[in-house]
Amino acid sequence: MMPARQPWGARLGVRILLAAVLVLGVGALTAWVVALATGPAIFHEHMLMVETPNPGPEVVRHAEEAFDASWQLSLLLALIAACLASVLVGAFLARRIAGILNKVRSAAIRVAHGDYGARVPEGAMGAEFTEMISAFNRMASELDETEHTRKRLLSDLAHEMRTPVATVDGYLEAMLDGVAGADPETLTMLREQTDRLKRLAEDVSLVSFAEEHRLSMETHVISVAELIGVAQGQAHSSYAAKEVTLQIAEDSGGAVLLGDRDRLSQVLTNLLDNALRHTGPGDQVTLRAGSDSATVFLSVEDTGHGVAPEHLPHLFERFYRVDTARDRAHGGSGIGLTIVRSIVEAHDGDVRAESRGPGHGTLFTVELPRHG
Ligand SMILES: Nc1ncnc2c1ncn2[C@@H]1O[C@H](COP(=O)(O)OP(=O)(O)O)[C@@H](O)[C@H]1O
Ligand SMILES: [Mg+2]
Repeated sequence: MMPARQPWGARLGVRILLAAVLVLGVGALTAWVVALATGPAIFHEHMLMVETPNPGPEVVRHAEEAFDASWQLSLLLALIAACLASVLVGAFLARRIAGILNKVRSAAIRVAHGDYGARVPEGAMGAEFTEMISAFNRMASELDETEHTRKRLLSDLAHEMRTPVATVDGYLEAMLDGVAGADPETLTMLREQTDRLKRLAEDVSLVSFAEEHRLSMETHVISVAELIGVAQGQAHSSYAAKEVTLQIAEDSGGAVLLGDRDRLSQVLTNLLDNALRHTGPGDQVTLRAGSDSATVFLSVEDTGHGVAPEHLPHLFERFYRVDTARDRAHGGSGIGLTIVRSIVEAHDGDVRAESRGPGHGTLFTVELPRHG
């Protein structure tokens, strides 16, 4: 798209040109006036200083005329050369600046129309332009990333919802057709699917809140020992039912944290849930707490399935599951660890996963700033 025609005098190039011509005009005029006022007098004086034979008025007049003609000619030529130079320089500058501005302008229009891949090539036109262009490009790539995440979230979400909705639909149809009855088994199955949808909705809203840094948090001073106690209490029965041993190694030395009790409990609950899901009877899970002067360490280590190295960097991504079919069958939506990371980061902490590979167990470590 071509830029709308600007009034002639409003164009940046014309303004720069006019400014240059104005400066030049003032300079030339000053030189002219000064030369006119002082030149002839000085020259005349010098002519009279000549001692041997008196030159006479005719000679003096010609000499004066010669002087006048020469300074006027040289000034005129200088002025013409300067004018030409200023026009050339002005036009060159105007073209360069207008070229850059047009590139930024058309990239901005593309971004406004949703094409976030638009970038402005960096040119050598001074620091201000380079800064403006790199700020623009940064903005475009941020938008690009947000858009990418948004699209993926939507398609992942649709994908996650499809299975439970299809299952519910199938059962309802069978019941309507009289193939299946409203027996407890069918109702339980239906309930499981709606529970899954409910959990999905809650998880997704929690994650989007967290990622927009709008997670509501009630900040309290929390004792690490208490946090561990609560998590153990919650996990105890499901661990016992699956015959997985839950070991507690609370060695925080009375450390306290500043944060939201429920959210931090949720971190441990999610990690303990995952550990239970990826272990079998006879396996062992250890919930540890430790501290140094500045940091509290919380970890959950299991002797279960483990994670292959290529999957480790992705575990905290939304909807990421190592074994899609098996993990989904276990009821996981793949957002648990995303929530863990969001909550930990909202507390200025860090979380990481380690594993020596499939069959060798997994270790999740959370580090949080110690409050006392
Ligand atoms: N303790 C663990 N052992 C092995 N794999 C794990 C463990 N915890 C998480 N994972 C892997 O990381 C994936 C993401 O975990 P999470 O975000 O909690 O999703 P999910 O809803 O599947 O539990 C899981 O699907 C699983 O493949
Ligand atoms: Mg999970």
